[in-house]
Amino acid sequence: MLERIEEIRSEAGTAIEAAPGTAELEGLRVRLLGRKAELTTILRGIADLPQRERGKVGAAANRARQELEALLERRAADLDAAELEARLAVDRVDVTLPGAPARPVGHIHLITRTTRQIEDVMVGLGYRVVEGPEIEHDYYNFTALNHPPGHPARMLQDTFYVQSHPDVLLRTHTSPVQIRALEVQPPPIFMIVPGKVYRRDSDATHSPMFHQVEGLAIGEGITMADLQGTLSEMLQAIFGEGREARMRPHFFPFTEPSVEFDVSCFQCEGSGALGDGSRCNLCKGIGWIEVGGAGMVDPTVLGFVESSGYDPERVQGFAFGMGVERIAMLRHGVPDLRRFFDNDVRVLGQFR
Ligand code: PHE
Repeated sequence: MLERIEEIRSEAGTAIEAAPGTAELEGLRVRLLGRKAELTTILRGIADLPQRERGKVGAAANRARQELEALLERRAADLDAAELEARLAVDRVDVTLPGAPARPVGHIHLITRTTRQIEDVMVGLGYRVVEGPEIEHDYYNFTALNHPPGHPARMLQDTFYVQSHPDVLLRTHTSPVQIRALEVQPPPIFMIVPGKVYRRDSDATHSPMFHQVEGLAIGEGITMADLQGTLSEMLQAIFGEGREARMRPHFFPFTEPSVEFDVSCFQCEGSGALGDGSRCNLCKGIGWIEVGGAGMVDPTVLGFVESSGYDPERVQGFAFGMGVERIAMLRHGVPDLRRFFDNDVRVLGQFR
């Protein structure tokens, strides 16, 4: 009997070590230690053995059982670890691989790209890029920019106000950043302000939200000739070499004198006529295309920031502002401004 126990123990030990997986090991456990296992039968039959064999056989059988239990446990732990390792290797996801199918990466929106091109040009001329809040105080958007109380731009039908705060609004232009910048930085100042602005307007060439770029240059001895030169330089960089800038008299509350500025038409080279003699459709035969507004900063405006060093008797300068969408539409022949914000990739994808 003792020999048989030893046989069972050593055969079982070999089988346990050879078990290829946890499922097979579980099968072995049932076969070796289950209710119908030979060792279990031996243990159950000990009481029927002759008195002198009982002690030895009982002790050997129990030792064998304990040993097999320990072996099974150790092998199970080894197999568990190995199987986990294998699963992890198979399941590993390489997040650096392209997806399947590979998706094209996106690209910068035409409006952002156009804004950055303008920024690049102006930074090249020594200007700094400055930003300001889109939710603005009436003071910065209108009052300090010399808009009198009855000015139409202040009316509810033109401007979005915050309901609970009648003096807070969505800025209608980037010009309020002029005042904010002048308040904190003494002259001279050369800056441009890109950003979103809001007006109650919606048709093919207007959207309630659109983008402007503002320019501001203030120091000693800055004249309208500097404005002309700066606009000319900027418009050539945007619309191509050989373009010219033209100023026409206009009115803005915060500049004096004020102008609107045009660029010579880049389709008909400013002639107003196309090669076949027909009228240029881009400039409507005029030879010039309106781009934005500008002027010499009104001394009244500087009066609001005099304590920051802007003595209207000593410093002066110019400001200009233009719509980014308009420039993008002109350059790329986009007929409807609202297409920029529909987020239809078939439209946006054309402008990489
Ligand atoms: N803020 C003006 C507008 O939105 C444009 C402008 C800017 C005019 C700077 C003159 C000087 O219409």
